[in-house]
Amino acid sequence: MTQSILVLPGDGIGPEIVAEAVRVLEVVREQDGLDYSLNEALLGGSAIDATGVPLPDETLAQAKAADAILLGAVGGPKWDALDSSIRPEKGLLGIRSQLDLFGNLRPAILYPQLAEASTLKPEVVAGLDILIVRELTGGIYFGQPRGVRTLENGERQGYNTYVYSESEIKRIARVAFESARKRGKKVCSVDKANVLEVTVLWREVVEEVAKEYPDVELSHMYVDNAAMQLVRAPKQFDVIVTGNMFGDILSDAAAMLTGSIGMLPSASLDANGKGMYEPCHGSAPDIAGQGVANPLATILSAAMMLRYSLGHTAAADKIEQAVSRVLDQGLRTADIYSEGMCKVSTKEMGDAVVAALQA
Ligand code: IPM
Ligand code: MG
Repeated sequence: MTQSILVLPGDGIGPEIVAEAVRVLEVVREQDGLDYSLNEALLGGSAIDATGVPLPDETLAQAKAADAILLGAVGGPKWDALDSSIRPEKGLLGIRSQLDLFGNLRPAILYPQLAEASTLKPEVVAGLDILIVRELTGGIYFGQPRGVRTLENGERQGYNTYVYSESEIKRIARVAFESARKRGKKVCSVDKANVLEVTVLWREVVEEVAKEYPDVELSHMYVDNAAMQLVRAPKQFDVIVTGNMFGDILSDAAAMLTGSIGMLPSASLDANGKGMYEPCHGSAPDIAGQGVANPLATILSAAMMLRYSLGHTAAADKIEQAVSRVLDQGLRTADIYSEGMCKVSTKEMGDAVVAALQA
């Protein structure tokens, strides 16, 4: 049966980088005789411009019907002044929540070819391979009540609610332990249990789940210390599991350890392995339309999609090897450029990956 992929280019550099990933998906489909369709829909600012809302009903229906989703990035200054209820980011949060994509996998891997690109000393990051498992549909991002209210004295007050239920903690903990089993067999759960009750419960529930995984070593760390340890000695980590907001922050820090956030893919999965795949970086409005963005994180996200949601492991391997080969050839977009390398555009990078696939 034909598998269906919904493509959401989004805003900023989104359409440019997604175009290269789509080309790669078309090439491996042809080469490996795979049977999937690629359809596009609107999300984020582009959807606001066309329909007035960041997540149109039609996009949501298509997303629900699809076997997997490939997303570029959403947001930009053009829509910053809008009310928070219709900002582009609401489209992204809406699709995560409506599809129950609670398990966000954000690997931070240092490509040996790019050791120079990291701002940390090579010996601190050489061989780095961390997986951040971020809870994506709960916590303070979605907790109620939330808003801005006016107090009796006329002063305004903003408020959000940080909340996790046991079942939410259990299912994300399982994702982390299962992932750790396939890698270094260590999970570090990050919380703020010295201050926040919700994370006291988080810690307790993670410990309960850990009993199902005696082969995996569990440790706990407060989030402030985790931020410090990530830049001090990042190789101590294998899998980090944490809530939505801490995961948002720590995954940007972890991404930068590798030298370029432009290289990192991510997967957001539901309980059945259906997922949305997107680069870890944002829509980079400052360089949008210039053809200089790095398409590799999106191409690698497409590979992750073939592996995790569509079951095409060989095609996924092939794409990852092709990316490694273009790095060996010295091709670099501006974000990962260092002296002596060959600077290429978004499209040239896509061309090179296609050529490596066809070689
Ligand atoms: C991310 C982004 C999003 C988030 C924004 C765009 C809503 O920063 O995917 O990390 O905070 O989750
Ligand atoms: Mg983020």
